[in-house]
Amino acid sequence: MPDLAVELAGLRLKNPVICGSGEAAASGPALRELVDAGAAAVVAKSANESDAARAQLASAEYVALDPAWREAADPAASGTSLLNRSGLVDVPFEEWVATLAAADAYAAERDGYVIASLIVADLDRAAGMAAELEAAGVRALELNIGAPHGGEAEPGAIETVHESERAGAVVARVRAAVRMPLLVKLTADGVDALATAAAARAAGADALVIAGRHLGFLPDPETRRPVLGTYGAVGGGWALPLSLRWVAKARERLGPDVPLVATNGVRTGADVVRCLLAGARAAEAYTVVHQGGAAALVRLVAEVERYAADHDVDRIADLVGEAADRTLTYAQAATKGGR
Ligand SMILES: Cc1cc2nc3c(=O)[nH]c(=O)nc-3n(C[C@H](O)[C@H](O)[C@H](O)COP(=O)(O)O)c2cc1C
Repeated sequence: MPDLAVELAGLRLKNPVICGSGEAAASGPALRELVDAGAAAVVAKSANESDAARAQLASAEYVALDPAWREAADPAASGTSLLNRSGLVDVPFEEWVATLAAADAYAAERDGYVIASLIVADLDRAAGMAAELEAAGVRALELNIGAPHGGEAEPGAIETVHESERAGAVVARVRAAVRMPLLVKLTADGVDALATAAAARAAGADALVIAGRHLGFLPDPETRRPVLGTYGAVGGGWALPLSLRWVAKARERLGPDVPLVATNGVRTGADVVRCLLAGARAAEAYTVVHQGGAAALVRLVAEVERYAADHDVDRIADLVGEAADRTLTYAQAATKGGR
């Protein structure tokens, strides 16, 4: 049996598949089902203290689109993209903390993790919420400083960090509040993701999650109105190479010892392997779960395991960075007659 375990920021993950944050991970029963599906870790739906961010969940809308940008007949079909608006966890925070602590304890008994997720509205409140989570026994935190909806949400509801100085300040404040492993999720939308990655790492991020989805806009030629009526976050398998470029560049810039997690566009076990080869130690997949339920995680883990067995990979961790470290410059490619 190949060894699928990877080490990430002090967490021993039994395999490189992490379920990303989203509505499918927004209740105790849902979190337990995702843990049971075999993901090494499940990132819970993000929370903060903003009433506007919570209220936004009630008007969340989703549309699966085929490769021609028409509504997809089968949302789970390969090649579909997802356009949506979303909000944050809409239960009182104390209740949510108890839910997460219980779910993480359940995961611990199954060699897994439930990772809490916070998105900043007010920074001091975010630091306080992180401390509450830790005090309740939750073992790890993902801080999403790159949520795509920041500019569209009510002012003050969701902060999207675009500047490296602010990234450092936000991460440092939360880092000072907790000792648990801190994963920081970044955006690559309209920013120098390497600068924010470096600043987040310098400020105490144990791992960097690269990168959140993009904000898009899609007019419908029939109605001549925006699909969903608004801007929306958009993702699809096409996003994977865009994310993995940043992952490979972050490895090059920050060095191989900095734990990286890839997200955005993972649809198959081969995509998880692509993430590892680009330099990530694990891959966060969410849309496949949103569209296909917990079974999608079972499939991803099985596909990674089959890949390792078919390719005589004894330790999946040995793949980390292999392709990234063999990237040629265009000049080298020219002299080697490469493509
Ligand atoms: C409907 C939906 C809701 C999401 N909600 C959150 C969230 O609350 N917090 C967060 O950090 N990421 C959230 N994400 C982003 C996912 O966790 C993931 O990083 C992203 O969708 C890219 O990966 P994917 O292509 O596998 O979906 C959400 C994504 C979707 C599609």
